[in-house]
Amino acid sequence: MDAVAALKALRAPEGCPDPNPLYAAMHAHGRGAVAIDVREHNYDAVAYGYDTVNQVLRNPDLRVVDGELLDMGKSNWRASPALFTFFHSMLFSNGADHTRFRKLFAGAFTPRRTAALEPGIRRIVSDQLDALAKQGADGRPVDFMPFAFKVPSDVLGELVGLPEEDRDWYRDRALAVHHALELGVGPDGAPGDAALELTAYFERLVALRRAEPRDDLISSIIQSSDADGGRLSEAELCANLIVLFNAGFLTTTHLIGNGLNLLFEHPEHMARLRAHPDLTGQYVEEFLRIEPSIHFVARWAAEPTEVGGVPVPARGRVLVLFAAANRDPGRFPEPEVFDPDRPDLVPLSFSGGAHFCLGAALTRLEAGIVLPMLLERFPDLARAEPPGPRMHLALRGYERLMVTI
Ligand code: HEM
Repeated sequence: MDAVAALKALRAPEGCPDPNPLYAAMHAHGRGAVAIDVREHNYDAVAYGYDTVNQVLRNPDLRVVDGELLDMGKSNWRASPALFTFFHSMLFSNGADHTRFRKLFAGAFTPRRTAALEPGIRRIVSDQLDALAKQGADGRPVDFMPFAFKVPSDVLGELVGLPEEDRDWYRDRALAVHHALELGVGPDGAPGDAALELTAYFERLVALRRAEPRDDLISSIIQSSDADGGRLSEAELCANLIVLFNAGFLTTTHLIGNGLNLLFEHPEHMARLRAHPDLTGQYVEEFLRIEPSIHFVARWAAEPTEVGGVPVPARGRVLVLFAAANRDPGRFPEPEVFDPDRPDLVPLSFSGGAHFCLGAALTRLEAGIVLPMLLERFPDLARAEPPGPRMHLALRGYERLMVTI
């Protein structure tokens, strides 16, 4: 199978149960990128080699999909509140706007603030382990995914400063907004109500915290923005808060679910990690490499450029396959083998360059707390049946992972 045929299979409308042989077929092709027919694929090139993907992410001529690109097409994205929100956030902006958003958020979401979340994360994990223990106390299989779902959303609530009583309400709307991304860029069916409700929610919370600041992320961002003459408009502030929560939510859920399933598939590693919880960090990196929650992102060329030797015209689009890069045999020998002892284990799952994941340190902290606590609490934890299928690549994880505790 050549690289283009592999790409076709990867993007099959019915979904992709196992992309890994397709990534292997691309690497067998040899180069790190290939040109494709834009009329058929909507992209001009696909990057899949480790070095090529790394260069693409750091190439300033290659931008994240933004409002400027959509305005050149027929998209009526401004009519969709969910898409309007996304395209006023750092994740989907470039240049001066991106720098403005990112600086403000990075200035508040500091290593100190991340580290300070540790006791809160331990409390949340402990509460959710209690709930899981109760559910599975009679020995019947229980679904692990609601745990993997609840923990990150509560942690994000803690980080952002959402009052505890609002968190379930908030999470349901965050999920609805998320579907706008899965649906692709188009106003049809994008759930506008949830985006409007979340914006209205943050408008109220921002006003409250402006009047009475607390030691939370929202208060800190408001203070920095106001001190600088309103560096962020109210709409931009709300959009970025919504996107921060969404970017950190299901990504972490699936890291936890995919990671636990890998341990079930490798019982020798499960036993080793139980005996040596201090190794959790390198296990998390290998989970991120071999089963990342996000398989790809897109970029577009502001100026004519090239990707791994493939020319990309101005306005050309590039599909950036992190998940394939993480399985580049030139970078990670025997890439299909789960091996947390790999030297120089640096997967590209958190992207790179200007848009490198703002929450990577929090993810690592959270996973580093969840796994040891879970394994310690349930010495007999076992998988009850193979996990539910995974079909999506934009966000890849199991809907169901039945376990006995
Ligand atoms: C397993 C967990 C996670 C994965 C795999 C992940 C992955 C990513 C990726 C691939 C990007 C870059 C997208 C691009 O280059 O176009 C990104 C950006 C981002 N992530 Fe994460 N993420 C995770 C967790 C988190 C968490 C916990 C948070 C927040 C607390 C977070 C907040 C963000 C933000 C705000 C951005 C946008 C940065 C920018 O555009 O400058 N992420 N993430």
